[in-house]
Amino acid sequence: MAGTNGKHASTLRYAHITGWGKALPDRVITNDELAQIVDTSDEWIRTRTGIRRRRIAVDPSETSATLGTKAARAALEVADLPPHKVDLIICATSSPEHTFPSTASLIQDGLGAVNAGAFDLSAACSGFVYGISLASGMIGTGQMDNILVIGAETLSRIVDWSDRNTCVLFGDGAGAVLLQASPVPGGVLSSVLGSDGSGGDLLILPAGGSKQPATLETVAAGKHFIKMDGRAVFRFATRVMAEATLQAIEKAGLSIDDIDLVIPHQANERIIKSSMRQLKLPEEKIFINLYDYGNTSTASIPIALCEAVEQDRLKPNDNLVMVGFGAGLTWAATAVKWAVPGAREVPAWRVHQRSASYGLAHVRSRFLRFSRKVEGSLVTEDGDAWSEVLSRRIENWRRSREE
Ligand code: UT7
Repeated sequence: MAGTNGKHASTLRYAHITGWGKALPDRVITNDELAQIVDTSDEWIRTRTGIRRRRIAVDPSETSATLGTKAARAALEVADLPPHKVDLIICATSSPEHTFPSTASLIQDGLGAVNAGAFDLSAACSGFVYGISLASGMIGTGQMDNILVIGAETLSRIVDWSDRNTCVLFGDGAGAVLLQASPVPGGVLSSVLGSDGSGGDLLILPAGGSKQPATLETVAAGKHFIKMDGRAVFRFATRVMAEATLQAIEKAGLSIDDIDLVIPHQANERIIKSSMRQLKLPEEKIFINLYDYGNTSTASIPIALCEAVEQDRLKPNDNLVMVGFGAGLTWAATAVKWAVPGAREVPAWRVHQRSASYGLAHVRSRFLRFSRKVEGSLVTEDGDAWSEVLSRRIENWRRSREE
């Protein structure tokens, strides 16, 4: 399936999901544990959201980029593609490591994906589906062949652990898919993207951006934590999930009866069930795993996709819909014909080769950092390169001999 950029621009091309992977922190936090830090209960959280536990990145060295890198490596493993063949890395995230550099660039470095472009995509929990839409467009128009779309989050770092309205909902984790160009019909059939910025204040990280840069006051007021009007987001979500799902199905030329599986954003069991009831979709066609992970924002759909594959919930030629909603406000849905069989057998030597290549990527990254430092030390304050300084000195020396 791999090829050269733009090589097949004139032939029909389809974007298939050929690899998938997930990464989750080890630490599980149960509802009962949360009830020890805020005024809540296991019963309240289960009945209002469905969530029983979530994973939290307690180790500071575990970040959105490290989780994203792990998930992306797993996706490349399934697709049996070496990292140097990746053309583009799109990382959807609501908890990027920094405003810049992008988390996607850090993942590119971690993978040693030396031929890939990389950028972050900010569309909150809809971001992963936005990424799928973008990637399939790039592939369909012949610009690229192999694109990683990742959702990676460490929301626990931006959650107010004293606010019971939000801290019980979120979890950390990452999921990734590899989209590859193919002449075989199928793959991403349609996508629907939406936004209503008038609801931007309903789910927001108020400070830390250019509007309210970090100050002692913003920190003291807790403005670097997620703020949410839960009821308003709930109402928006139940309406928009059903609408977007239906639009994506119709755009793909399918009917609801043709759909084999829906993977919705894993925010709240009640939102999912009420949206899908509006579509009269039977429960067995809806994939829910928020019980174990909570709401992992951009990562929730790709993590659920991985588990759907693990549980044999997807067969070749099944019609799948992935649908999300989130801050912005945003929403997005995509219909996909699942054309790949289950995970392929990859020879052990190739797995070893790839893990060695990740070791090399680490060494390469260290070397590049070091050589940049050395290069920096050879440049004078007025920006002249050391070589220019040297040639000027030689010239002066020559002149002094001539005099
Ligand atoms: O990716 C998108 C992210 N956002 C979402 O998906 C959020 C969408 N909204 C929701 O999922 C729900 O609105 C929530 C789960 C956030 C809240 O459920 P709800 O059924 O809408 O509850 P509510 O906001 O109407 O609150 C009911 C009561 C309130 O008490 P009073 O005012 O009735 O006395 C809350 O203070 O429940 C209280 N409450 C809690 N009680 C125990 C709120 N959070 C908690 C809690 N434990 N953790």
